[in-house]
Amino acid sequence: MNVNKLQEGLKTKLFGKRIIFLHKTGSTNDFAKELATHGAAEGTVVIAEEQTAGRGRLGRNWFSPKGGLYLSITLKPKLKASEAVKLVYVAGLAVAEALHELYGLKTETKWPNDVLVDGKKICGILTEMSTSGEKVNFAILGIGINANVSLRAFPKELQTHVTSLKNELDGKIILEELFRVVLEKLEENYASFLKEGFVSILEKWKSYASFLGKSVEVTDATQKFHGLALDVDHEGALIIRLEDGTVKRIFSGDVTLRF
Ligand code: BTN
Repeated sequence: MNVNKLQEGLKTKLFGKRIIFLHKTGSTNDFAKELATHGAAEGTVVIAEEQTAGRGRLGRNWFSPKGGLYLSITLKPKLKASEAVKLVYVAGLAVAEALHELYGLKTETKWPNDVLVDGKKICGILTEMSTSGEKVNFAILGIGINANVSLRAFPKELQTHVTSLKNELDGKIILEELFRVVLEKLEENYASFLKEGFVSILEKWKSYASFLGKSVEVTDATQKFHGLALDVDHEGALIIRLEDGTVKRIFSGDVTLRF
């Protein structure tokens, strides 16, 4: 990656005005959190070529070899914490739009925080917040995209669940270009979220959500549910109709499609 090329032609007002570029770090989210704790401005981006301790949701690891895009952005939304959790949809939509626009891929969003291509995970998003009561001090939005990484480089157990741009496009993409477009979409969607509220972001996100209307298995911290994915509501909860006909709202968990 060429650090000078990251800002070249970047059409954002705030996002990426300060970029910290690292060849290697543990986790860009941890690095960004440290900076934000010491007062980093909104829009500050940390990007790394490689992460040695990339983190996913629910305490999982995020496989982060050279060739992927790993970035974290600091946000300071004037929102309650319960509203700021919806930022994950702002980011998911930005990535789905960017991959579609740049490469013509049929991207899908999957509740709550994934972007898929061909039914396989190509991007994961990790939102972390520092709060004082309901006040958000800052939020870190971490985005990992499997870009120029061969499928065979992934650990065996992941190979059937993930894909990469290299795999889908049969060639390497320009990481700096992907970075720019993701950041531009992110800024645009963030502004719309703050100005117009969640509904328009959610509607757009749902237009990519091909799991809706399908039979799914949802695992939360303690239980597994089977049912039909009906909707994602205005609070970001997944609505499913269980096999016994009851309708349930789920606030956190993982969705797997059932065939
Ligand atoms: C998930 O799907 O569970 C979320 C994965 C998020 C990975 C990104 S890569 C950049 C940032 N730094 C991290 O350690 N994690 C996020």
